[in-house]
Amino acid sequence: MAKRRRKRRGFRLFFLLMLLAGLLAIKWAGTVSLVADPGAGGTLTGAGWYFPGAKITVAARPQAGWEFVGWTVRGETVSETPEYTFTVAGKIELKAQFRPLDLYAMEALARGRGSVAVSAQQVVRGEVVVFTAQPEPGYRFAYWEEDGEFVSAEAVYSFAAQAPRNLRAVFVPEEYRVDLEVEGDGEVVETWSLEPARVTLKAVPREGYEFFGWVDMDTEQEIETEAVLSFAWKGGRRLMARFRPQLVHVDGDSLMAVASKQTTIGQYAPDDLVYLPADYSSGKARLRREAAEALDKMYRAALADGVKLYVVSAYRDYQKQTNLFYRYAKEDGIFEAERYSARPGQSEHQLGTTVDFGGTSTGLTEAFFHTPQGQWLYNNAHKFGFALSYPKGSEEITGYIFEPWHYRYIGVELAREWKESGLTLVEFLIKKNQAF
Ligand code: DAL
Ligand code: ZN
Repeated sequence: MAKRRRKRRGFRLFFLLMLLAGLLAIKWAGTVSLVADPGAGGTLTGAGWYFPGAKITVAARPQAGWEFVGWTVRGETVSETPEYTFTVAGKIELKAQFRPLDLYAMEALARGRGSVAVSAQQVVRGEVVVFTAQPEPGYRFAYWEEDGEFVSAEAVYSFAAQAPRNLRAVFVPEEYRVDLEVEGDGEVVETWSLEPARVTLKAVPREGYEFFGWVDMDTEQEIETEAVLSFAWKGGRRLMARFRPQLVHVDGDSLMAVASKQTTIGQYAPDDLVYLPADYSSGKARLRREAAEALDKMYRAALADGVKLYVVSAYRDYQKQTNLFYRYAKEDGIFEAERYSARPGQSEHQLGTTVDFGGTSTGLTEAFFHTPQGQWLYNNAHKFGFALSYPKGSEEITGYIFEPWHYRYIGVELAREWKESGLTLVEFLIKKNQAF
């Protein structure tokens, strides 16, 4: 009996030990522990014991001034959201990573006379900050600057913080002003240095546009073609900043090249120029060989009809066109000059295929149209490959006033087609050039 009881007690002990081991194993397998890194970064919920296979959610909440980064297990990121749901499979230790929120200092200062304010001296990343500038009487707010660089011309300037900022409002005496006009699509940024007052204007074109000149509106002279204009302020000044759509670059070598206010042939110079005979020119005028030959034929045909053609201007290189254009601008003002003279790189004369006829008592005026030369050319030039580039009433399209003396060689075939089309030459060429 005693032996049997001992046997049974032994069996029970073994059974209890097994049970205990089993429970310990299960307990070990279901333990979820959570650690905040660093400890001060935030609080965590969801630690404890779970049945293996249970689906649970742990949560991390950052303390003020901290932000949650992610959950890691043995250094591997398992989730980047503060709430993380997973299935318990074994003992697991999850680390919640926190980092201090970036705090940015915001400082507002003033240059000149006025007061400034900022919505908060310290903000976290992404927080909206508002800077406000208020001039004193007799002064005006000009712009905000930072490290001497222009930032904004808004007196109330707001943005989402991405870095510490140190903005200075610039107030200038009310009378420190430049009267500005803008032509085309772009804007002007003005910055001032005070006493002595000096203003710097920077022309900034919008996408697809380019800046091409500052005009003094009192003298109507182009005073600068660089985007930055800086001068000592000595009183009111009226200026215009001019922007135009970016010029299309065109190969001047093509007889069909579009030379217009929207295009440029750059410094193109033909390599087959020949001198025109002194019979109908000064003897110094030049054209490309093909155009010169066509002109010669035309001269003889006109002569046979009793009309004596005479060339007053033919090929003009980039430099000559520059001198001419600015000479006219000096005489008549830039806006007037642009109506009858091309800027360098934009003149058909630079192509070496264009002729101005003249030598009559009318000079280069509309009256030339009614001279025998003007009439004969109008009716016959296309038969020899020449087209009248700037017809009457087409300034809106061509950019230039009526020039009854200005003919351009494009080849006989094209010139006939052009005459039949009824289009201005520039419209006709754009249509013909698939590149446009
Ligand atoms: N007179 C024309 C427009 C030129 O200068 O080319
Ligand atoms: Zn001309």
